[in-house]
Amino acid sequence: MLLGFVVLHLLGNLQFFAGPHVINEYGSKLRHLPFGLLWVMRAGLFFVAVMHIVTTIMLVKANRAAKGQGYAFKASVQSKVATRLMALSGIVLLSYIVFHILHFTTHNVDARYSNWMDGEDHDVYRMLVAGFSNVAISVFYIVAMLLLAMHLSHGAASLFQTLGLRTRKLACCLGCTAQLLAWVLCAGYISIPVAVLAGQYDTAYIASKGVVPAPAK
Ligand code: HEM
Repeated sequence: MLLGFVVLHLLGNLQFFAGPHVINEYGSKLRHLPFGLLWVMRAGLFFVAVMHIVTTIMLVKANRAAKGQGYAFKASVQSKVATRLMALSGIVLLSYIVFHILHFTTHNVDARYSNWMDGEDHDVYRMLVAGFSNVAISVFYIVAMLLLAMHLSHGAASLFQTLGLRTRKLACCLGCTAQLLAWVLCAGYISIPVAVLAGQYDTAYIASKGVVPAPAK
């Protein structure tokens, strides 16, 4: 489900390249879904994310208990970097998601975002341009996306193992597919802050709104 969210969220975000009104309308449609569906989805996502953390902690504890004691010699030379960095990338991603929600959902990072409108719709486009015009924030997003790719490249392949679908024949194929998926998603996400930093956005629209974000340094 988390993987599905990351794919759908990217498809939504890529509408940035279709222009301000497209992404702003998309944001409004999501916010005005009938029957409180947005909150149902948010609650589902939150529940799944908590379960992911809880089951990971349980797995680590079970692994340690099964070993009895730590290895005298750590023979992890052959395990890939992504596998060894799962805990670190997971913790950084969790911090990233907390920051990201404070940034673009609750607007605690910049309260002006709440007042920015495009007609009846919230001005998501202007918020993204303003947000990513801050180089430090963009760099943080880009680093987080690289870690996301590493986390997913191992996690997506492990998913098949967990479900018992990873046969000897499929093993290599699944590994490559997971890598490809992870890095395509990463490139898609990174393309947005990179486009803003490179000035590749609708400058006429942003200027028409009165606030021109600080130029990318
Ligand atoms: C450049 C990359 C990204 C951009 C431009 C972006 C954009 C956004 C925006 C505009 C929102 C606010 C939606 C709203 O409340 O109107 C949002 C919410 C959110 N994003 Fe992202 N996002 C990015 C990457 C990610 C990644 C990689 C993840 C997960 C690993 C993620 C997880 C979330 C979550 C959990 C929310 C809260 C959803 C909600 O409010 O219901 N985002 N994102």
